Amino acid sequence: MTYLRNCWYAAAWPHEVSEAPLARKLLGHHVVLYRTTDGVAHALEDRCPHRFAPLSMGRLIDDQLQCPYHGLRFDTDGACVYNPHYDALPRAAKVASYPLLDRYGMLWIWMGDEPADPAKLPDDFAFFDDPGFKAVSGYLMVEANYQLIVDNLLDLTHAPYLHPAFAIPGISAGERLKLTTTELVRLPQRVIARRWRKNCPPNGPTRTLFGFTDAVMDSRSHMHWLPPSLIYFDAGASRINEAEELGLCLPAMHAITPATEHSSHYFFAQARNRLLDDAKTDETLLAVLVNAFVNEDEPMIEAQQARMGGETDVLALDPVLLKSDAAPVSARRILAQMIDAEQAG
Ligand code: FES
Ligand SMILES: [Fe+2]
Repeated sequence: MTYLRNCWYAAAWPHEVSEAPLARKLLGHHVVLYRTTDGVAHALEDRCPHRFAPLSMGRLIDDQLQCPYHGLRFDTDGACVYNPHYDALPRAAKVASYPLLDRYGMLWIWMGDEPADPAKLPDDFAFFDDPGFKAVSGYLMVEANYQLIVDNLLDLTHAPYLHPAFAIPGISAGERLKLTTTELVRLPQRVIARRWRKNCPPNGPTRTLFGFTDAVMDSRSHMHWLPPSLIYFDAGASRINEAEELGLCLPAMHAITPATEHSSHYFFAQARNRLLDDAKTDETLLAVLVNAFVNEDEPMIEAQQARMGGETDVLALDPVLLKSDAAPVSARRILAQMIDAEQAG
């Protein structure tokens, strides 16, 4: 499968990476992530060039990653710097090393041939560093192509059907869709699927988790897709005629990274501007999200992938398209063009 390469993908939460090497498959490549004693995280190809043992099964010695099989050691650039077998260091003894960027609460990896460019990471996730917000986060491994997860996020018309916890008490799924106004914004490298309801009862969690008692509010859920497979979700609810930033703001990051063409890492972080120091809110909010993603979205996306057989491109199967598919289809087209351009270049 051909992926966009000269861009940043979420590789791991920083807390996952320590001096104990972590194996992770990213874009079809075996990668090992580890931290040297100065606290800096590194990523190398997870395959020794000698007999192809996983370096992730080895350990760090003096900040060098030692192969668990015959003891070759590699530095953070992937060069073999120590050979215990008395012969000279083989010139070919090196593994690929991948630049990492520690930003917005995430370790991002660059697997392209062009020099890594930090400016290519969108700044939509800056809420992570804003003391006015508090985030909870999680991780799922989904047995499906990464673009099916992006489709799911970009088409929230599934929410009233798949996610009963987000229901609006007293309003049916069909009525809720009717009350929701939508707008699609297509930019050269961004698709925004905007959805809002003015002057309507807010959803369950706005009341139960955040304590709003207003009978009606202005609610929004705007999904921004950023290539290749990042989502900035701008959700919230504000009092009638109140500025959005004064109301409940729930910005979120969804970062999806292909492991293989049929499996994906799904990292999510959900921030809030209310009840920042309340551990109970952390716990309840995370439980609501984990329930939605793990018990509702993930089984559906995996079942969808299973019904698609080995096919990874949903459009190749000539699906029936609804109006709400405009956003995911636009994102797929933009990404396909970017991948084509990168390959041609
Ligand atoms: S397989 Fe790594 S040193 Fe032999
Ligand atoms: Fe969902």
